[in-house]
Amino acid sequence: MNGFEFIETTLTGNTAVIELNRPRQLNSLNRKMVSEIITAMEKFDREEDIRAIVLTGRGRSFSAGADIDEMMGDDPISLELLNQFADWDRFSLIKKPIIGAVKGFVLGGGFELALCCDILIAASGTEFSFPEAGLGVMPGAGGTQRLTKLVGRTKALEWLWTGERISAETALKHGVINKIVAPELLMEETMKFANRLATQPPLSLRLIKDSVNKAVDYPLYEGMQYERKNFYLLFASQDQKEGMKAFVEKRKPDYTGK
Ligand code: HXC
Repeated sequence: MNGFEFIETTLTGNTAVIELNRPRQLNSLNRKMVSEIITAMEKFDREEDIRAIVLTGRGRSFSAGADIDEMMGDDPISLELLNQFADWDRFSLIKKPIIGAVKGFVLGGGFELALCCDILIAASGTEFSFPEAGLGVMPGAGGTQRLTKLVGRTKALEWLWTGERISAETALKHGVINKIVAPELLMEETMKFANRLATQPPLSLRLIKDSVNKAVDYPLYEGMQYERKNFYLLFASQDQKEGMKAFVEKRKPDYTGK
């Protein structure tokens, strides 16, 4: 896709790759860049042939956080008038799987962007941190909320208060990431995972994501009622008929995504 200043997008089979492309600034995120990322993601989310979206960063780091140069002159009213986090809110509405392939530094807003992904694959040596407190601020794009829901209050406070660097191994241990791979294999392993998802019926993946996201917010009983509706809904799909028919006919299913 052309016309972006701070990202590159490519298509490989059924996977769309969005690459942060501001490597000299370690892919620090200015507002235009965030807007470009979500614009590209929404476009891929609507394209029928795309089954998964990979988010990664060019150069030695995924992202060193929000662009401090851009942010330092902000005041509360300018942030309110900008509706600073409107673009960030749109990440929660993406329906397709988002796989983050991260390396180097994953800091601040970069960590928050990573936490918008559904699956995270990290190169060994990746360091995660929320350094915001050290700048006299705090995360504002969901970091305190998403991290706490992932790792619990105790670890979240420790990491957010101190800004300490968290190794990929520690991130894996606490369920922040799915997998650690050798740096030279990061994209290969990520694409392998994306290709695996591409063979699954897309509507199932879509409604599983929707239901799992609800589990984070809903009490158990309400979540189970929500899950049930999505379960019923899948019985309206051609892929449910195909998947079950293929099983009884002992052949491979041919899913259409309908
Ligand atoms: C603007 C940044 C940047 C950032 C790095 N750069 N991070 N510019 N905003 N967040 C720039 C540097 O100024 C430098 O530019 C170039 O990228 C390379 O960085 P170096 O510091 O020379 O590299 P290195 O010595 O390897 O150190 C890497 C680093 C350090 C440890 C990641 O750059 C760093 O501490 N960056 C800031 C990290 C941070 O505090 N992030 C949180 C931001 S607050 P020049 O021109 O000198 O070459 C945040 C709030 C989110 O994210 C709120 C919601 C969106």
